[in-house]
Amino acid sequence: LTNGLLMAFQQLPTGILTIVVTLVFMFALNPAIAAVVALLTPVSVFTARFIATHSAKHFSGQSRIRGELTAYVEEMVGGISAVETFETQGAVAARFAETDDALGEESFKAVFFSSLVNPTTRFANSLVYAAIGIFGAFVAMGGGITVGGLSAFLGYADQYAKPFNDISGVATELQNSVACARRLFALLDEPAEAPDAEDAAALAEPRGEVRLDHVAFGYDADRLVLRDVDLEVRPGMRIALVGETGCGKTTLINLIMRFYDVSAGAVRVDGRDVREWTRESLRAGWGMVLQDTWVRRATVRENVSMGRPDATLEEVRAACREAYADDFIMRLPQGYDTVLDGSSALSAGQRQLLCIARVILARPAMLILDEATSNIDTRTELLVQRALANLMAGRTSFVVAHRLSTVRDADLICVMADGVIAERGTHDELLAAGGRYRHIYESQFAPTE
Ligand SMILES: Nc1ncnc2c1ncn2[C@@H]1O[C@H](COP(=O)(O)OP(=O)(O)OP(=O)(O)O)[C@@H](O)[C@H]1O
Ligand SMILES: [Mg+2]
Repeated sequence: LTNGLLMAFQQLPTGILTIVVTLVFMFALNPAIAAVVALLTPVSVFTARFIATHSAKHFSGQSRIRGELTAYVEEMVGGISAVETFETQGAVAARFAETDDALGEESFKAVFFSSLVNPTTRFANSLVYAAIGIFGAFVAMGGGITVGGLSAFLGYADQYAKPFNDISGVATELQNSVACARRLFALLDEPAEAPDAEDAAALAEPRGEVRLDHVAFGYDADRLVLRDVDLEVRPGMRIALVGETGCGKTTLINLIMRFYDVSAGAVRVDGRDVREWTRESLRAGWGMVLQDTWVRRATVRENVSMGRPDATLEEVRAACREAYADDFIMRLPQGYDTVLDGSSALSAGQRQLLCIARVILARPAMLILDEATSNIDTRTELLVQRALANLMAGRTSFVVAHRLSTVRDADLICVMADGVIAERGTHDELLAAGGRYRHIYESQFAPTE
């Protein structure tokens, strides 16, 4: 894109100026011959245009395939261990070669056609030049122009034709640029997250009252994940969400955090629709430990203090001690100053402990724990659960867990199924009811025969 624009800005103004000035001089010398020049010039312009449109198609194809190839490489390098485990290097390399060949072919065509432009216009220009020479000779024989005048005129005609060559060169480069720009703008035109409402208020000190009002939602409009979820959470309550894999627990949490907007119904926090709170303040109210932990490329200390960058080292350590992360952190080469290399430096369980320390330090008003301890060994989990229980005391919290031992103390357990909350109640109530919950419970705790 830059190349094209630079060439256009450098060559277009001089080219156009040359054309205009030589045209004026030629008309001053002899209007009849000048008119012939002006009429014949479009011939070369049209040939250039014809070829340029042909190469434009291939330039578009070239940048599309190049994008595909880059994405493919990135995906496969990212998943290299899976690729190697399943011994699919051959197939992956073959698929790469195939795309690469397609790219080669498309690039060849693009460059071939665009390289044709310049010689073709030159050829057309020479034809025009010869035509002017012949026509001018007849005019000179009739006494309409002197021989010296005609030779000066031919000089002008040559000058006049040159910029057309340059401009056609610019045109090819611009074709490429336009193809690139189209992809750029396609990305820029992707709809952004809807901005906060004009009159959105800031959720300063959340009480932690959450209300789901007949919420329906689907990632695709035609496939609802949640059909009709109705739930009232009083401040300080601990809600547990259980249910089969894929039943929509994480989805529900995404809606509460307003990572997505509901399709129907409403999610209310502290009595107001979440769409009427500013996103920033709404999310600041929540602390989350999610299924997919995320550790950034920074020191341990910076990672833990993400929610409270001003925390002192002592506070950071205290939070880590509470999350049972202090031990392994102290064993790292530089302790709290060890730079973590993205997601690869720690084990999955260690990352989870780090994320728990993060929320313990941030002490948010409301809490979301989505399988927060799923990667931690059972003994450490028991200890961390105690720390989390302390943290949840007095805070509205949503806990998602497959292991029922971690949710039995919740104030309200919601069993999700088929896009609704199929059963709700306390652990004892649900066990007594003998429905789905009891079923899940027995599958986990029944003595094995
Ligand atoms: N980003 C997404 N785009 C499209 N569909 C999605 C997306 N995320 C989840 N889904 C679909 O929504 C459904 C519910 O997914 P969700 O992640 O809420 O399940 P879950 O209850 O959290 O499961 P798990 O116990 O495995 O964490 C799934 O069937 C899944 O296919
Ligand atoms: Mg989930």
